[in-house]
Amino acid sequence: MSKQKVIICPNIQENLAQTACECSHDKIFILTDQNTRDCCLPFIEHIPGLKEAGILCIEAGDAHKTLETLASVWTSLGNQGATRHSLMINLGGGMVTDLGGFAASTFKRGIPYINIPTTLLAMVDASVGGKTGINFNGLKNEIGVFSPATHVLIDTRFLQSLDHPNILSGYAEMLKHGLISTTSHWAELLNFDMNQIDYGKLQELVALSVQIKEDIVEQDPFEKGIRKALNLGHTVGHAFESLALAHQHPVLHGYAVAWGIVCELYFSHIKVGFPKEKLRQTVRFIKENYGVFAFDCKQYDTLYEFMTHDKKNTSGIINFTLLGEIGDIRINQSANKEEIFEMLDFYRETMGC
Ligand code: GLY
Repeated sequence: MSKQKVIICPNIQENLAQTACECSHDKIFILTDQNTRDCCLPFIEHIPGLKEAGILCIEAGDAHKTLETLASVWTSLGNQGATRHSLMINLGGGMVTDLGGFAASTFKRGIPYINIPTTLLAMVDASVGGKTGINFNGLKNEIGVFSPATHVLIDTRFLQSLDHPNILSGYAEMLKHGLISTTSHWAELLNFDMNQIDYGKLQELVALSVQIKEDIVEQDPFEKGIRKALNLGHTVGHAFESLALAHQHPVLHGYAVAWGIVCELYFSHIKVGFPKEKLRQTVRFIKENYGVFAFDCKQYDTLYEFMTHDKKNTSGIINFTLLGEIGDIRINQSANKEEIFEMLDFYRETMGC
């Protein structure tokens, strides 16, 4: 897989003008959703070279990450004269970068694209590492390809207008990166004041977080081994997300991951010796900032069912990524139903639900 250039931009206008020059193209197309068209496009549309760009706009939200939306993007590209030498720029959160990346990677067998993530979740996770795709048949990210953007341009000034829940949602993936990297980075993340955000400091933390993800993706772009480290918190997190959706109370992805981290660090403690004090400190941070996802023991079977359908499983065995210590990654761990129910008991007792 070709390596992508990830640039933390002091000035998105300059960086984008230069990047657009570097990528040879006949026409440029900018994909936005309704929110980023109004709030973020004005930052870049006057850049020399982009004034003539075709603007494509899709409806915002994960519910629109569909085959129909994808087809509408292909249709607009075709109608507006895109060729296999055109360049696409995806301006938005993870939904836009995932769907736009997939649209670009398949249009006329693939055109280059640049990601400009505008949410914290997209900056530290979705836009980096080449996973693209759409939801299909009720399953998240069911259809897609590994196909990296040529460039990912990250301007953390976009975060200043992001609401607090979406900051927290992205921050959960940063916390995950802290847990799989070093004790000092993990401690720095726990000490960051989420209620009074220092955006300069946040930019430094974002840069470090992205570097952690890039290093892992470079070693294992197709998730055969060490990239599974990035799944920490996600086996249980996806089950929480699915349960919430089934009850028509969707939760933000990062919140579900944070609650999933509580469960999977508990497993890490009992199965591979993750230190109890670090478990306690991480749980306290998550409880204070993310609150609690409440459920009772009548929902254990449903949660277990969701875990058995996780696409990371092989031969029906539920796959977890655990930690023996911060940075000591143990991929391909499993747990049986009884252990999973005990873990859910731990979660409810510790979180107080
Ligand atoms: N979001 C996890 C990964 O990119 O592998």
